[in-house]
Amino acid sequence: MKYDYIVIGAGPAGYVSAIKAAQLGLKTAIIEVCEDRVGGTCLNEGCIPAKALFGIAKNLKEISEGADLYGIAETKPNIAKFVEKSRSASDTLRKGVLYLFKKKGIDLLLGKAIFDSPGKISIKAPGETDRTVLGKKILIATGSKPYQIPGVPFDGKRILSSSGAIRLKEAPKNILIIGGGAIGTEFASYFNLLGSEVSLLEMKDTLLPEMDKEVSRAFGTLLKKRGVKIITSAIAENICVKENEVQVTIKKSGSEETKVYRKILVAVGRQPNTAEIGLEKIGIELEGKGIIPVDGRMKTAADNVYAAGDVVKGPMLAHVASAEGEIAALDAAGKTFREIDPSMVPNVVYTDIQVARIGLSEDEAREKGQDIAIGKQYFRANGKAVLSGQDDGFVKILADKGTRKILGVHILGPEAGEIIHEFAVAKQAGLTVDDISKTVHAHPTLSEIAVDACNAVFDRPAHG
Ligand code: NAI
Repeated sequence: MKYDYIVIGAGPAGYVSAIKAAQLGLKTAIIEVCEDRVGGTCLNEGCIPAKALFGIAKNLKEISEGADLYGIAETKPNIAKFVEKSRSASDTLRKGVLYLFKKKGIDLLLGKAIFDSPGKISIKAPGETDRTVLGKKILIATGSKPYQIPGVPFDGKRILSSSGAIRLKEAPKNILIIGGGAIGTEFASYFNLLGSEVSLLEMKDTLLPEMDKEVSRAFGTLLKKRGVKIITSAIAENICVKENEVQVTIKKSGSEETKVYRKILVAVGRQPNTAEIGLEKIGIELEGKGIIPVDGRMKTAADNVYAAGDVVKGPMLAHVASAEGEIAALDAAGKTFREIDPSMVPNVVYTDIQVARIGLSEDEAREKGQDIAIGKQYFRANGKAVLSGQDDGFVKILADKGTRKILGVHILGPEAGEIIHEFAVAKQAGLTVDDISKTVHAHPTLSEIAVDACNAVFDRPAHG
């Protein structure tokens, strides 16, 4: 069978790319290992089920803390049901993607794709004879998998990856989470909400090292206040599964301590799925830990072969993957597109108290020699935050002193992941802090904090 465009992998990079290509009139096929994997990690193992669980756990905490207020005697969580509900969110969305494939005339080919040559792919499915498909243009969007600590394989019982953690039907009595990035902090928050004793270990000196330092530190303080034990500048060694627990040696500042935990979640990054797909046959040489080098059009070193998502350099974020997949499809169809500007991409951590950023951090702005002005506004001065009992955190804005344009925004607080988009649009449009502060915002809303934070950059906020 011959296609104009073949996509390998039906995650956020692949399925968005296939849909775009089909919309642009290319005869398109998408290859995925099995139907249950359509939607990729995000939809089946990551963002969607995880955020469904985090939302339920947050509601549970609110209800149990407000038992008197709501007149509820006692809440006994049924975590198996939480997991069921999160799976149903994934199933619904996966069916939606399958429906779109059908509607757009995209052929879904099930099996494992391996390159024979740049335009030729074999598809291997258990119990079936291999098939061969030909594509004028091909996109590699095979995603990533969690890194394992050498010698400590995931077993789904004691040593968990995020995929194992989203399927736990009981809250562990205690858990050690290794890695204080997005996955580590989100699950620390989740298990903390469920009542587990959580220890969170990070080798760098703050949690969320990719975020603005001031925000990372304040975030750590809030997580600690909620009862999470935070161990920074530390490493875990000699991890050893005993019958019902795991023994670990924690090394920090020259001292070491051996501890036991019921479970360990390893969240130390993800590895691109670029082995065993025949890249050597098409002349693609991998960089670093398995990354496919691409140019701004998402083109690889092989003729007419693109790559997008977690297999290429850059943040492993579903929204970035989709944007890259779209670029590949546009280029394959001979259309123009705008390259992704990393400073315009929001990054959100979905903990109980959320963290969001766009643009430069304070350290990055200073390193670049930017003449910056900083404004900060706390949620405790925002009506909606106070009335809803979520008044921890702040919004920090970095603006250029000369042009007054927004350089970076960092939010720690309720719905940070929603509020950040007002700033994303403003930044994309090259607006100044004055453009936001003179825009009337509805009251009472969390979004009103944008006005006060922008006023705080060069002046004083009304509520501060
Ligand atoms: P990550 O790269 O975000 O964080 C890993 C953390 O582990 C880093 O802070 C690193 O310093 C630390 N670390 C590495 N090795 C360690 C060791 N041996 N001991 C202690 N600490 C160690 O990776 P993570 O959290 O596993 O997430 C994987 C990918 O998925 C990331 O690219 C992340 O951005 C993405 N993701 C994004 C989410 C979001 O946008 N909300 C949610 C979940 C994942």
